[in-house]
Amino acid sequence: MASNASSDDLKPVFREVYGRLKEELLNDPAVDYTEDARQWIEKMLDYNVPGGKLNRGMSVIDSYKLLKEGQHLSEEEVFLGCALGWCIEWLQAYFLVLDDIMDNSHTRRGQPCWFRLPKVGLIAVNDGIILRNHICRILKKHFRDKPYYVDLLDLFNEVEFQTALGQTLDLITTHEGAKDLSKYQLPVYRRIVQYKTAYYSFYLPVACALLMSGENLESFGDVKNILVEMGTYFQVQDDYLDCFGDPKVIGKIGTDIEDFKCSWLIVQALERAHEDQVKILTESYGRTDADCVKTVKQVYRDLDLQNVFLEYERASYEKLISSIEAQPSTSVQKVLKSFLGKIYKRQK
Ligand code: IPE
Ligand code: MN
Ligand code: MN
Repeated sequence: MASNASSDDLKPVFREVYGRLKEELLNDPAVDYTEDARQWIEKMLDYNVPGGKLNRGMSVIDSYKLLKEGQHLSEEEVFLGCALGWCIEWLQAYFLVLDDIMDNSHTRRGQPCWFRLPKVGLIAVNDGIILRNHICRILKKHFRDKPYYVDLLDLFNEVEFQTALGQTLDLITTHEGAKDLSKYQLPVYRRIVQYKTAYYSFYLPVACALLMSGENLESFGDVKNILVEMGTYFQVQDDYLDCFGDPKVIGKIGTDIEDFKCSWLIVQALERAHEDQVKILTESYGRTDADCVKTVKQVYRDLDLQNVFLEYERASYEKLISSIEAQPSTSVQKVLKSFLGKIYKRQK
């Protein structure tokens, strides 16, 4: 593997590693599968794991390469970087399978949500648990003898816990008692998205690459803060696209308005709305009725939230770039800039 291979060159390698990991899991000597079980799990994996943008997974090997500053990567290093990347994609699949049930979503990655398939239904809950356990199986098989194995397990455990707590915050904010828009303010929003999205999507891939490089995560506090900030920006985009994105491009139909989510858009709308607009939002937000959804979107347009978002995007980008450039290590700067470049102005 050439050391200067770009992320595009590594994508096919990364995809191949999926096939290998899947075969290993389906032939796990620790359990005695039936042919039916093996087929179920294979279908479940193919449906839920590899169909996304693979940004998180690819970021492990991309970051590792940048940290090694042009040194030649052995075949083993490339494989391990890809395997860790897939662990993050597995973690994501696990959370998304369950998230779609809880959010009552319809589509994901351009196909019906897994639990929507008639033969699946609530078996999807157990499939989520299987996906979660696969991560430990992969880590055990390929990393057990590495000096950073314990740190890796601890990292995945910590991040999973943070994400689950984020989901708790997201869900109880939504369903707690009578619908009350007054609590939908920026600090509440930031806390939810920091936990539910930023740690696993941004901190985790870079932390995996740092551990593989033999670094101690404790000395990268600033890097973690920058990545959490990047993750917050990413979720603001997700919220914006939920309402204003093209479902054909983002692969999912938005449900935030129907679900009464503490979305960035509703927070911004409430900060800017006049009394009569607050009244309209209070009456229409959190209803499945298509007219109510339309009404909410019209208030967003009247408040020019599309431009508020563009301005937020510009300002976050600038702020992130300047905190990245304040980092002492140029290879760490490259890692952070490359990650930011993958998401800036994304349409999906
Ligand atoms: C999901 O957040 C976060 C996790 C899966 C942990 P959202 O509910 O906002 O994400 P989408 O819009 O369904 O992808
Ligand atoms: Mn959710
Ligand atoms: Mn969701």
